[in-house]
Amino acid sequence: MNTGGPAGIEAAFEARFSQAPTAVVRAPGRVNLIGEHTDYNAGFVLPMAIDRDIRIALRPRADDMVKVFAVDVAQEATFSLAALERGEGWQEYVKGVAWALQEQGLALTGWDGVMAGDVPRGAGLSSSAALELAAARAFQATSGFAWEATRMATLCQLAENRWVGVNSGIMDQLISALGREGHALLLDCRSLEGEPVPLPPGHVVVILDTGTRRGLVGSAYNERRRQCEEAAVHFGVPALRDVAPEMFEAGAAGLAELPRKRARHVIGENARTLQAADAMRRGDATELGRLMNASHASLKEDFEVSSGALDAIVACAQAQPGCRGARMTGGGFGGCAVALVEEGGVNAFLRAVTDCYDTPDRRSAVYVCRAADGASRVR
Ligand code: GLA
Repeated sequence: MNTGGPAGIEAAFEARFSQAPTAVVRAPGRVNLIGEHTDYNAGFVLPMAIDRDIRIALRPRADDMVKVFAVDVAQEATFSLAALERGEGWQEYVKGVAWALQEQGLALTGWDGVMAGDVPRGAGLSSSAALELAAARAFQATSGFAWEATRMATLCQLAENRWVGVNSGIMDQLISALGREGHALLLDCRSLEGEPVPLPPGHVVVILDTGTRRGLVGSAYNERRRQCEEAAVHFGVPALRDVAPEMFEAGAAGLAELPRKRARHVIGENARTLQAADAMRRGDATELGRLMNASHASLKEDFEVSSGALDAIVACAQAQPGCRGARMTGGGFGGCAVALVEEGGVNAFLRAVTDCYDTPDRRSAVYVCRAADGASRVR
């Protein structure tokens, strides 16, 4: 359920706790324009935070308990900050963030909260990073430590890796923390530095949700990471980020087929991502779109993380006039694709993609999204 912004969630808090909240925080989901499966290779990504987020209205408690009601699933979770125990479900993300913050020596205050959001779950739009960053913002609001966005992103990644047990890279948390309205961010996943790049004038970013879902846990994600590490060892470098295209051409012969294909994707994708940022600085939508199309082909053929549904919706999008480019986005195997579309023709585009993709047992959701700011305190 979308509570319709800060007012809606404040009312939901009052209804549940018979008091007004003292703070409302939010953190956005993201869509990645290009730079896929490059983050854990210390490479480059180009995502934007989107105008869909997770919000928490909260009020500090006098003890060390955290009590959160999640409106969308109508579930309440309660835990003690002094005795964190692993369990299951969405509350593990909140607990994991508390664990990571306390690991850093930060003293946390308990709170009552009501949470709601409109980031589709499991769709590749980083609903988990949004939840983690919103939780971190909530703890910051009650506990009063400094909000250092990049540090918070790394702590949220730690929560995901070590508490939840998903071995994801840093992209999702970084963009949910650092996002900039109207811009994508070129993120260097080694230095963790980000540079805002403007979206091409006269164009919009469209999310194409295939309606198919695949979680990250236990998926082929970890296998891809291992294959990339194997390739880096072959080239004698810390990460595939350090392999230039010429070095790959010269040294790829001794590598087994799968790590060679995975490395070819990552090395090409890093180059494409830097070129895409250049194209955006020049406002060149045609070039950005061409690079997005090339990224999809590489993810499909070499990295092998696309799916029939993703390929179908991308082909539907690419065939439409006014579409500059389209590709799968996020981890892959299901979820969403992203397209860059001329603003004037976007309604016709949305209709045409739906007509092209949908069947009686396959339904898409396609919508325009705007680039939003990173995690913030709304009031
Ligand atoms: C998932 C992970 C990210 C990143 C992408 C692929 O979204 O959470 O860290 O690796 O897959 O680019």
